[in-house]
Amino acid sequence: MSTIAFAGSNSKTSINKQLVTYAIHIYGKAEILDLNDYQIPTYDIDIEKNEGFPNDVKKFFDTIKAASTIFISFSEHNACFTAVFKSYMDWCSRIDPKFFTDKKVFALSTSPGGYGGRNALEAGIKLVTKFGGTVLQEFALPKFNDNFVNGKINDETLDQELKSKIELFRSEISK
Ligand SMILES: Cc1cc2nc3c(=O)[nH]c(=O)nc-3n(C[C@H](O)[C@H](O)[C@H](O)COP(=O)(O)O)c2cc1C
Repeated sequence: MSTIAFAGSNSKTSINKQLVTYAIHIYGKAEILDLNDYQIPTYDIDIEKNEGFPNDVKKFFDTIKAASTIFISFSEHNACFTAVFKSYMDWCSRIDPKFFTDKKVFALSTSPGGYGGRNALEAGIKLVTKFGGTVLQEFALPKFNDNFVNGKINDETLDQELKSKIELFRSEISK
C-alpha cells in the first residue's frame, strides 16, 4: 500500500508541512509532497475549455489516484482551508469528481491559535468525503509555536494523542 502526505499550503515554511512530516516520522514510510512542486494555476474553466488540463494537474491527480493512504494537514486561512488547496482539488474534481474513492485518510491541522486550524480540518474532511475518501482519524494541534519545537510535539498529552491515533489508523487500514 502506498502512502502520500502533504500540507494544504504553498508556504515554503508551512507549519502544516512540519506537522505532517512529524506524523509520517511516527507512521513510517510515505512520499511527502509539496504543493510548491506543481505549477497549477487557480482553477479556471476557460483554461480547461481552451487548453485542457495543465500537465501538473494530471501529475498531481495521478499521484493521488495511485495512493491508498493519504495524510493531509489542512492549513487554515480565514476559517477554511487555503485557496491553493481548494484550487488543486477543483482541478482534480474536474477529471474525476470521486477521485478519493477507496483512499483512507488521516486528516490533521495546526495553526498558531488555540483552535489549531479546526475550521480548516472540518472543511477539509467534508471536501475529501465528498470526493469519496474515508477519513479514519483526525488530529488538530493548537498553538503550534508553543507545542511544536525542534521538529516534534513537545506537549506530552498532545504527542500521545497523535501517536495513539496513528496506531488506531494503522490497525483500521489493515482490516
Ligand atoms: C490570510 C490568512 C488568514 C488566516 N486565517 C486564520 C484563521 O482563520 N484561523 C487561524 O487559526 N489561523 C489563521 N491564519 C494563520 C495561519 O493558520 C498561519 O499563517 C499558518 O502558518 C498557515 O499554515 P501553513 O504555515 O501550513 O501555511 C491565517 C493566515 C493568513 C495568511
